[in-house]
Amino acid sequence: MSRIAVVPGSFDPVTLGHLDVIERAAGLFDELHVLVVHNPDKSALIPIAQRVSLIQQAVKDAGLPANIRVTSWSMGLLVDYCTDVGASVLVKGIRSQVDVAYETPMAIVNRNLAGVETIFLLPDPAHAHVSSSLVRQVAGLGGDVAPYVPKAVADFLQSSRV
Ligand code: PNS
Repeated sequence: MSRIAVVPGSFDPVTLGHLDVIERAAGLFDELHVLVVHNPDKSALIPIAQRVSLIQQAVKDAGLPANIRVTSWSMGLLVDYCTDVGASVLVKGIRSQVDVAYETPMAIVNRNLAGVETIFLLPDPAHAHVSSSLVRQVAGLGGDVAPYVPKAVADFLQSSRV
């Protein structure tokens, strides 16, 4: 039986830190689904379909493994997607204690809801300070985000001036 895991997130936009976690996770499972999910607690910058295509482009440009699928989910709980596709594991990247505090309640709720476990991966420390919200802020004020995001994202933000 193949082991399927899901890396969920807003990915608004995907960063080099996300890509690092995606690559590490892809090496641990037979199939890895990168799932763009609307976070009701955040106001979105980039439309979800565009976020999916930016991740697809970034995965391709980085030559990441072929067991990675990128899609989105808007039909309910994250664990409903996991049940639909037969995934038993969620993967999240942890940069600091702040991330641990943010992720822990979600991990426990997702386990209680559907028995889906969450595993945490440590990204390369080089990306520890990178977040989508910082990228949105820097890009929005006209700064250079190229050191923090895949080229496809930097080009998109530059061209759309969002
Ligand atoms: O990148 P983010 O914004 O930290 O990702 C958070 C996300 C989208 C994974 C989280 O908000 C989520 O799981 N949303 C789906 C709704 C859901 O299932 N909520 C209950 C479990 S926490």
